[in-house]
Amino acid sequence: MMDLSAPAPMQEPQRQYYFLKRARELTAGKERELGRPLTCCVTTFGCQMNARDSEKLLGILKEAGYQETQDENADFVIYNTCTVRENANLRVYGRLGVLHGYKKKNPHMKIALCGCMMQEPDVVEKLKKSYPFVDLIFGTHNIFKFAELMVTMLESDRMIIDIWKDTDQIVEDLPVERKYSFKSGVNIMFGCNNFCSYCIVPYVRGRERSREPEEILKEIRKLVDDGVKEVMLLGQNVNSYGKNLARPVTFAELLREVVKIDGLERVRFMTSHPKDLSDELIQVMAESEKICRHLHLPLQSGSSRILKIMNRKYTKEQYLDLADRIRKAVPDIALTTDIIVGFPGETEEDFRETLDVVRRVRYDSAFTFIYSKRTGTPAAVMEDQIPEDVVKDRFDRLLKEVQTISKEMAERFTGSCQKVLVEEKNSQMEGYVTGRLSNNHVVHFRGPESLIGQIVEVRLDECRGFYYMGSLTG
Ligand code: SAH
Ligand code: SF4
Ligand code: F3S
Repeated sequence: MMDLSAPAPMQEPQRQYYFLKRARELTAGKERELGRPLTCCVTTFGCQMNARDSEKLLGILKEAGYQETQDENADFVIYNTCTVRENANLRVYGRLGVLHGYKKKNPHMKIALCGCMMQEPDVVEKLKKSYPFVDLIFGTHNIFKFAELMVTMLESDRMIIDIWKDTDQIVEDLPVERKYSFKSGVNIMFGCNNFCSYCIVPYVRGRERSREPEEILKEIRKLVDDGVKEVMLLGQNVNSYGKNLARPVTFAELLREVVKIDGLERVRFMTSHPKDLSDELIQVMAESEKICRHLHLPLQSGSSRILKIMNRKYTKEQYLDLADRIRKAVPDIALTTDIIVGFPGETEEDFRETLDVVRRVRYDSAFTFIYSKRTGTPAAVMEDQIPEDVVKDRFDRLLKEVQTISKEMAERFTGSCQKVLVEEKNSQMEGYVTGRLSNNHVVHFRGPESLIGQIVEVRLDECRGFYYMGSLTG
């Protein structure tokens, strides 16, 4: 019970619940005025952590009285932005133009921008100057304050901007609206301390902070009570989880506790930095059935020389050795990776080292990226930026290699029976559903929609490169 005639409490999250109640009053007034419900749309531009943040935003919006829609022609639209590469950035500006068109026809419309891109001062300057129709701008550190910011926005007709440089605060227990009823991301840590020389994430997400293990376990138990079967533990480098807690805990120790939770069937995690991946973690993965047979292990480059300039803190040989030990301990594991092509100073020889690692590790799949210069990072001012045509040529060669190998790798499971978490109705084929294997591969098979959210056994009849066609067994 919140008394709105009293001043807002100073303590979090109580303060946000106070503002949620005020927001609800404001939206109710607007609904009466318009004679219809208010709609909202949250669009995610970035990674899994960005997507999880969007679920938190949507949780607040729903509590505040908005109804969710996928249509961006809505009463409240939020863009949760990403700035890891230039093109993520450009997409936002392009789409803002479209939103402006909607807003001209619906003067009640509110537009908010948040996420990593907003942590860049140049971006905010540009928005202030050229996109004055935006109503609210906030960053990654104060996202927990969204209810409060929403009230300020609804009571003002000026552009509201609130960006924090960093924070050591972690606010728990705010509403969340999950995209899937049966699976969920769970933040275990925020920020990043690694400062890979090409990467902007440490600048826009701040210093590394781990959540207390009890808070994480409490959240997962609650999710399981609510029907969740699979969780993905999220952090920029989960392998350094717990190092800065008052009572330090390792990621492997956390995992051992997570898998004990009754009713939880699958555990994934993202992302694992190779430099901190411990033998203890490999052992826990090998021992627990619940931990999915998938490890995303970003390589970035196969050249020890480039890895050093990237500040990745491992060599080609150390990486190969690690991949080897993992494959030995967990033979049916799928290994996936991220690779950057065209980092400043990358020679043909360096690039061939990358191809060599790809051929030796034989990734089940790989995300390949063209190096993108991010202002403020050390790599942006390095000499010898690689010409576009050279990068494009290497990128194409790498992609071809990666795709050939991943097709061959996928074939090794054809004919086997596997447990599948059914995720959705197939949009292309009538009467089919789509599910995910423990190793993160996707399979389509004939089955009723009622299977969605359940784990069933499926035979992988045919491999079609990036997915399987299967059939329900039994
Ligand atoms: N924390 C994760 C990566 C998060 S960003 C890790 O360390 O593995 C996801 C991926 O984006 C990175 O793995 C990298 O391959 C890519 N990336 C990051 N900065 C980039 C840049 N400036 N140009 C191109 N790709 C980049
Ligand atoms: Fe970026 Fe490196 Fe941190 Fe990953 S570990 S987010 S690549 S700085
Ligand atoms: Fe992008 Fe931010 Fe994630 S920059 S990749 S949304 S942490």
